[in-house]
Amino acid sequence: MKAEIIRRRHHFAEKMLTNSIAIFFSAPEQTRSNDTHYPYRQNSNFWYLTLFNEPESALVLIKNKSEQVTTILFNRQKDVMAEVWTGYRLGQAQAITQLAIDQAFIFDEIAQKLPELVAGKQAIYHADQQYQYADNIIQQVISVVRKSSKYNYQAPDMMIDWRPALHEMRLFKSATEIVMMKQAGKISALGHIDAMKSCRAGLFEYQLEAVILHTFAMHGARWPAYNSIVGSGNNACILHYENNSAQLKDGDLVLIDAGCEYENYAGDISRTFPVNGKFSPAQREIYDLVLSVQYYAIENLVAGNTIKAVNEQVIKIMVKGLIKLGILQGDVDQLIEEKAYLQFYMHGLGHWLGLDVHDVGNGPIPSRERVLEPGMVLTVEPGLYIDKEANVPSQYRGIGIRIEDNILITSQGNQILTQDVPKDPDEIEALMIKK
Ligand code: GLY
Ligand code: MN
Ligand code: MN
Repeated sequence: MKAEIIRRRHHFAEKMLTNSIAIFFSAPEQTRSNDTHYPYRQNSNFWYLTLFNEPESALVLIKNKSEQVTTILFNRQKDVMAEVWTGYRLGQAQAITQLAIDQAFIFDEIAQKLPELVAGKQAIYHADQQYQYADNIIQQVISVVRKSSKYNYQAPDMMIDWRPALHEMRLFKSATEIVMMKQAGKISALGHIDAMKSCRAGLFEYQLEAVILHTFAMHGARWPAYNSIVGSGNNACILHYENNSAQLKDGDLVLIDAGCEYENYAGDISRTFPVNGKFSPAQREIYDLVLSVQYYAIENLVAGNTIKAVNEQVIKIMVKGLIKLGILQGDVDQLIEEKAYLQFYMHGLGHWLGLDVHDVGNGPIPSRERVLEPGMVLTVEPGLYIDKEANVPSQYRGIGIRIEDNILITSQGNQILTQDVPKDPDEIEALMIKK
């Protein structure tokens, strides 16, 4: 992994201007209440370049006039008493050997140390408005350099946002990253399988969530990549439902959208299944329609194609299916033109996946228009959501279904990273009978 972070830093440095400096800050800790914190989650960009998980850290890359690159880390000082209370700190000496950096300094001294590193550079790379604390440090440093004869008043002329360049790198997963994403997909799938096996009427949605989190942890993934959605009955029609507080009812479906975080890489799976283990005819009709477009999408999301082009076909198949079921009435093209489907399918077909669940890579070309290339990882997640108040045949009301998998684009099509959890309705029913 050391070789990989060195390679990533050099790859980024190749994109830097001669005689420039780039600074990447760690995520701050987040207060939950009074003096308790949320579990710490490192900033994905900082992690990508350091694999270092401590707050109060910053990575500095300097490319000098002769194109040589120096790597500097600011991190917390070792402190015996503080470590008794809150745990081990790597410190400066260890950072140099473990993280493959040239020099390490104490984070508390960053505002004093940075001016001499920044002075005389033609450009400074900084991600503005990511963290207030980081903006404050950078502004202070630039102001000191600009006003001080000690630094010849030589503040950089240019501030460049490093996000577009770094995010383009993150969009293409390396072999090492793919190994982790496969593992994230596998563990996420196990969570869903256990949820299907444990499901029964009377449980609360949050208890099904607990089953999933337990399975994630038992397979080495302590945290979910995002708040799990467990929505039964009409709750499945709330796209970002996170209350997970209702009791599961016999005859309802339950939609689970949950994925683990493994080594900071996200899995993102949705499955929908009957609480009592058997789809009703109406549930099955809607389910089969969503499943058929999901199969279609997976088959067509390959190198050379775009999410947008595939989604246009997905919408066509969905509208035809909805007409057949009597949920929409009219002409296919006209209904598409009027966006009549938006009442039932109101989100995108998929998104990039990686260190962030909604991963970076949405640059000048919006992700849905980006031509797919090997190494990209994305979700495929069509859904249909028919609210209990919808003006449709009554048997279809209160049904929300999403089926979501994660795929890696390869030179020979794609590879599904989340295939271990069934989505065929007969297989789901068989799995639930065996519980
Ligand atoms: N879990 C969030 C999403 O599917 O986009
Ligand atoms: Mn999801
Ligand atoms: Mn998703």
